[in-house]
Amino acid sequence: MRKKIVAANWKMHKIVAEARSYIQSLLVELGDETDVDVVLVPPFTLLQLCSEMVGESPAVKIGAQNMHPAMSGAFTGEISPQMLRDLFVRYVVVGHSERRALFGESDHFVGEKVRAAHEASLRPILCVGEKLEERAADRVHEVIDRQLAGGLEGIGPKEMQETIIAYEPVWAIGTGHNATPSQAQDVHSHIRAVIARLFDQATADRVRIQYGGSVKPDNAAELLRQPDIDGALVGGASLDPRSFAAIVKAARDAKA
Ligand code: 13P
Repeated sequence: MRKKIVAANWKMHKIVAEARSYIQSLLVELGDETDVDVVLVPPFTLLQLCSEMVGESPAVKIGAQNMHPAMSGAFTGEISPQMLRDLFVRYVVVGHSERRALFGESDHFVGEKVRAAHEASLRPILCVGEKLEERAADRVHEVIDRQLAGGLEGIGPKEMQETIIAYEPVWAIGTGHNATPSQAQDVHSHIRAVIARLFDQATADRVRIQYGGSVKPDNAAELLRQPDIDGALVGGASLDPRSFAAIVKAARDAKA
């Protein structure tokens, strides 16, 4: 059985005082939840605070929203894997569609980040997903296959098992229109088949695949009951600790 993993991507939201009160509430809401891996993914400016507040909590780990693949160097404005490790960050989101679309990140560059994350013992959360026009043109598998091939290039089965895939259809992000559970399940099972082809079936069976795109407390349970949906990457609904905790509880209670 794959352990569910639910992550809160705060994107470019929250300042220190807001993060402080959020984490206080979240830790109360979650208690000592350990049936689900819970990851908070704040902006860089809040990583240190979040790490310190979460401390040794068994319930919550910290992730970053992005990083540069180089360990150090002349890359003004960038953050390295080593800097994230220094703040006790465990996960890093790579290839989010907003970074691909707004900052021109290629599949090749995303793959470099995945490899760099593993070198630094960070677990990458590799985001993939098609745009609306690509779905309309029946190109979902083609797009996902290309993103997986580029993003997973050069890693072995051991690293693959430590990699989390997040399927985030671009048309479902921030729109309130989530993929239906069966639409998401179809793509998740395709992703698992691609991983089996690129690696092997045992590896594919262990990889956790999150769904992201307008996940909310009232649609989470049904999505998370699908056999290949192993968690959620939550944007808007993760900004409130009660609504995020409700999604974590839905993951805990979901039985495929
Ligand atoms: P929303 O939950 O706001 O649709 O965002 C999803 C997302 O992009 C998470 O990475």
